[in-house]
Amino acid sequence: MGSSSPSSSSSNYCYYFYRLPLLLALVLSFAGNCNGGKTSSFVRKVEKAIDMPLDSDVFRVPPGYNAPQQVHITQGSLNGGAMTISWVTQDERGSSKVLYGTSEHNLEFSAEGRVTNYTYYNYTSGFIHHCTLRRLKHNVKYYYEVGIDHSPRRFWFITPPQVGPDVPYTFGLIGDLGQSYDSNSTLTHYENNPIKGQTVLFVGDLSYADNYPNHDNERWDTWGRFVERSTAYQPWIWTAGNHELDFAPEIGETKPFKPYRHRYHVPYKASGSTSPFWYSIRRASAHIIVLASYSAYGKYTPQYKWLEAELPKVNRTETPWLIVLLHSPWYNSYNYHYMEGESMRVMFESWFVKYKVDVVFAGHVHAYERSERISNIAYNIVNGECMPTPDQSAPVYITIGDGGNLEGLATNMTEPQPSYSAYREASFGHATFDIKNRTHAYYSWHRNQDGYAVEADSMWFYNRFCHAIDESAKYYS
Ligand SMILES: *[C@@H]1O[C@H](CO)[C@@H](O)[C@H](O)[C@H]1NC(C)=O
Ligand SMILES: *[C@@H]1O[C@H](CO)[C@@H](O)[C@H](O)[C@H]1NC(C)=O
Ligand SMILES: *[C@@H]1O[C@H](CO)[C@@H](O)[C@H](O)[C@H]1NC(C)=O
Ligand SMILES: *[C@@H]1O[C@H](CO)[C@@H](O)[C@H](O)[C@H]1NC(C)=O
Ligand SMILES: *[C@@H]1O[C@H](CO)[C@@H](O)[C@H](O)[C@H]1NC(C)=O
Ligand SMILES: *[C@@H]1O[C@H](CO)[C@@H](O)[C@H](O)[C@H]1NC(C)=O
Ligand SMILES: [Fe+2]
Repeated sequence: MGSSSPSSSSSNYCYYFYRLPLLLALVLSFAGNCNGGKTSSFVRKVEKAIDMPLDSDVFRVPPGYNAPQQVHITQGSLNGGAMTISWVTQDERGSSKVLYGTSEHNLEFSAEGRVTNYTYYNYTSGFIHHCTLRRLKHNVKYYYEVGIDHSPRRFWFITPPQVGPDVPYTFGLIGDLGQSYDSNSTLTHYENNPIKGQTVLFVGDLSYADNYPNHDNERWDTWGRFVERSTAYQPWIWTAGNHELDFAPEIGETKPFKPYRHRYHVPYKASGSTSPFWYSIRRASAHIIVLASYSAYGKYTPQYKWLEAELPKVNRTETPWLIVLLHSPWYNSYNYHYMEGESMRVMFESWFVKYKVDVVFAGHVHAYERSERISNIAYNIVNGECMPTPDQSAPVYITIGDGGNLEGLATNMTEPQPSYSAYREASFGHATFDIKNRTHAYYSWHRNQDGYAVEADSMWFYNRFCHAIDESAKYYS
C-alpha cells in the first residue's frame, strides 16, 4: 500500500512539471476530502499482552560469579567513531574494563569505563558499567569482552561506514517494547527479517517496570537481559518515553528518569546538548535528531535553544537523510493519547518544514500509523486555517509504538480516517528504513503475526533535499 517503484520516479518527475495545474487541482481536492487513506482490514486477534514470567528463558542470568549481564551498546560519538558499552554486575563492583580488537583471537586494545549504582524505593541496583571505545575504524567488525576479572563474556559489533551522502545503511524501528510474549515476538521478527537492520532507532518506553508495584526495578533488569541478544551486538539509539520517567513522589522518588539515566547513556555532549534526553548523531548517510517529549520545549528552554541551533548545522550534502525520533506523536488518529503531542508540534513543526525533515518516528500509541506529507503551520489563531494540508517539504509521520508491551493494543480509531492518515492498523510489529543512496530509501512495516519476510505496509522515500519528488501514488492515480 502506498508504495511506488523507484523506476517510476522519472515519470513522476515529468508529470510534476508538465501537469502542474492538474496536480494542484488534485491537491486541493485532497485537502477538502474527508476520506483518508487506508484503515487496514487486517483484524488481529485481540488478547491481553502478558508479561513473560520472571523464570522465562529470556530473563536467565548468565552463569558465573559476577558475570556481566544486560549488555547493551550505543553510538558513543557524533559520527560513529566511538561505541559505548554498558553492562551490569550483581555480586561485586568488578572491573569496568573492556578488552577489544578486530581479531577474535587478539583483543589487543583496552578501555577503562566507569561504574554507577542507584537506589529506588527499597530496590538497590547492581553495578552499572559504561565504557566508551574511541577512535574505532569504520566499517569493521570488533570483538569485545566484559567481566574480564571473573566471568568474561565476549560479543561483537560492526562499526558504521564513514559518514557520506550515498552510504547505504539499514535502520530498524522499534517502540514501546516492554517484556511481554508479544515483545519477544517483535524482537524475534526484527532479528529474522530478511531486511537486516544494522542499528535500532528506539522511540521510547523500554521496560514498563513502572507498571509494577513500587516501579519494581527488577523489571528494568529483566528487560536488560531480554533484549541483550540484540543490544549487545548492534547499537540501539535511545529516546526517552513516559515510562522512563519513574517519577513517584508517593514513594519518595522525585527525580525523574532516575533508573533510565543510570542505565542508558547517550552521546548527548557530542552534539552540544546539555541533557541526555535530546541530542543528535550522524550515522552513514543519516543525521538523526532525538527529541524529548517529557522535557520542556517551550520557547527559551534548553531543548528549544538546542534544536534551534542544531537544525541549521545539519549538512544535507554529507547526510542527506534527516530523521527525527520522539515519543509522543504529533499526528495520531487513534483515540489514545489523542493530541498529547500537539503542544510540541505547535513549537517545532514549522522548523521541520523549513529544514525539510524526511521522516519523524514516534511511539506512545500502541499501534501503527503512517501519514501523508502534510503540515499544519498556517494557523495564526484568527485566520481559521487550522487543517493539515499536503506539503512536499513536510516529513512523513510514522507511529511505531507497536512493540507489544503489557498494556496491549490501541484499537479505537477516530472516524472517519483523517485525510492526512495514509495507513493505520492496530497490530504489533516493527519497521525498517533501508537507505539505498542519497535519493532513495525503502521503508517497510512488519506485523509480528506474519512470516518474517511479509511486509504489511511499505513506501519508497525520496529524499526531501536531493530528490524531493512526491512519493504518494494518490496524486497520480
Ligand atoms: C553503591 O554501591 C556502594 C558499594 O556497595 C555502596 O556503598 C553505595 O551505598 C551504593 N550507592 C547507592 C546509591 O546505592
Ligand atoms: C519492597 O517493598 C515491597 C512492599 O512495599 C515488598 O513486597 C518487597 O519485598 C520489598 N523488596 C525488597 C527488596 O525489600
Ligand atoms: C522468546 O523468543 C525466542 C526466539 O526468538 C525463544 O527462543 C524463546 O523461547 C522465547 N521466550 C519466551 C518466554 O517466549
Ligand atoms: C557541507 O559538507 C560539504 C561536504 O563535506 C562541505 O563542502 C560544505 O562546506 C559543508 N557545508 C557547511 C555549511 O559546512
Ligand atoms: C472509542 O473512543 C471514543 C472517544 O474516546 C469513545 O467515545 C468510544 O466509546 C470508544 N469506543 C470503544 C469501543 O471503546
Ligand atoms: C539510488 O537507489 C535507487 C533504488 O535502489 C536506484 O534506483 C537509483 O538508481 C540509485 N541512484 C543512483 C544514483 O545510484
Ligand atoms: Fe508511551
